[in-house]
Amino acid sequence: MQKNLVIEGGHPLRGKVKISGAKNAGLVLIAASIMAEGETILDNVPRICDTEVMVEMLNEMGASAHWREDGSLSIHPPQHGMKHRTPLELSKKLRASNLFLGALLGRQGQAIVALPGGCDIGSRPMDLHVKGVRALGADIQIEQGCIYAQAQETYGARIYLDFPSVGATENLIMMSAKTPGMSIIENAAKEPEIVDLANFLNSMGAKVRGAGTDVVKIEGVAQLKAGRYSIIPDRIEAGTYMIGAAVSGGEVLVENVIPTHLHPIIAKLQETGALVEETDQGVLVKAGERVHKVDIRTLPYPGFPTDMQSLMLALLSIAEGTSVIVENVFENRFQIVDELNRMGAKIRIEGQTAIVEGVASLYGATVRATDLRAGAALVLAALAARGETVIEDAIHIFRGYENITEKLRGLGAHIK
Ligand code: UD1
Repeated sequence: MQKNLVIEGGHPLRGKVKISGAKNAGLVLIAASIMAEGETILDNVPRICDTEVMVEMLNEMGASAHWREDGSLSIHPPQHGMKHRTPLELSKKLRASNLFLGALLGRQGQAIVALPGGCDIGSRPMDLHVKGVRALGADIQIEQGCIYAQAQETYGARIYLDFPSVGATENLIMMSAKTPGMSIIENAAKEPEIVDLANFLNSMGAKVRGAGTDVVKIEGVAQLKAGRYSIIPDRIEAGTYMIGAAVSGGEVLVENVIPTHLHPIIAKLQETGALVEETDQGVLVKAGERVHKVDIRTLPYPGFPTDMQSLMLALLSIAEGTSVIVENVFENRFQIVDELNRMGAKIRIEGQTAIVEGVASLYGATVRATDLRAGAALVLAALAARGETVIEDAIHIFRGYENITEKLRGLGAHIK
């Protein structure tokens, strides 16, 4: 796997790009597939490092999972004898491995799940997941970096989440889907990926209501039957190419998107002066004459997504005026700042706030991708910069973006 990306800046992105399936929906649906009897076929799952790791995990756990010729993913868990322990080394590679907690408990009442790895964007505890599965009847021990969960007798429960955690909501929906009685998750996360999970489970016979609102009600069923399901497009990938158009002074039509999922991003992009138009083919973004400063606070959906924060930093680096960005979801998501500053940006951090003093232009430099979205933000900065940028540790970017080099090249970027 190549490790560096080299980008020559100054070539505006122009043309159309087709958005892949959502990474975060793909990851949770892959985990949820083990709860069904029979073969599940998932369409539109992006082939990226993170989904490949989930597929490898399934195979190591005794399910049969493989990509089919038409690009879909087939997952067929065994009737009996599936391991209930996630492979340790693979689990360390991505946080989404923790989604096997709810899926395994829902499937077979037992799970040993390693406390997860993934992006280094701050402490990512699992207390809410644990509190929830305990309420549903699981006995939990945490030892040597693993959660040991046993659920002999489970029952529906009312669970209040102190924070609308995406992963905790997903784990609890999965476990509740097979837990007898009615479970109610209050202050649930409302992200589109949660709705996709609920739709997927319901397509297999589950009874999940209210996904997309902050109260999700789940009536447990005894059995889920496998079928075929197509996952939603990736709103963060779409947002990345949209900002790519704005930052490079170009014009891009992002195709295969659900515009309502993009509204929090569109709203802020318009405030920066970009022209955004929803058309029948997708969302068209045209760079404005200047980039205006904007202030942003990241929040759970439908607030501005934390996953877009680094990408916006890249754009606001070249805005006229000073922007203020407050990160409210993850505490360590400003690692990108040192890298952007190496490219001539003027950003300083005060606690959870980034103060971005716009500069006239960025210049190429050798920088390092510290996490997935930070890496993507460096790509955007490099597109706008004068000269050549080398992004080291680009592997982080491939974790989450399908065919990013090909897609950018198709839009006229000079990237290798
Ligand atoms: C998911 C997404 C990630 C996105 C994030 C927020 C996947 C695979 N990843 O991550 O891309 O950035 O949602 O939209 O879907 N928290 C606790 N206790 C817990 C769980 C979470 O305190 O038990 C805190 C976290 O530390 C963090 C916040 O809640 O500060 C949000 O985390 P969460 O929504 O759980 O994010 P993930 O599901 O890990």
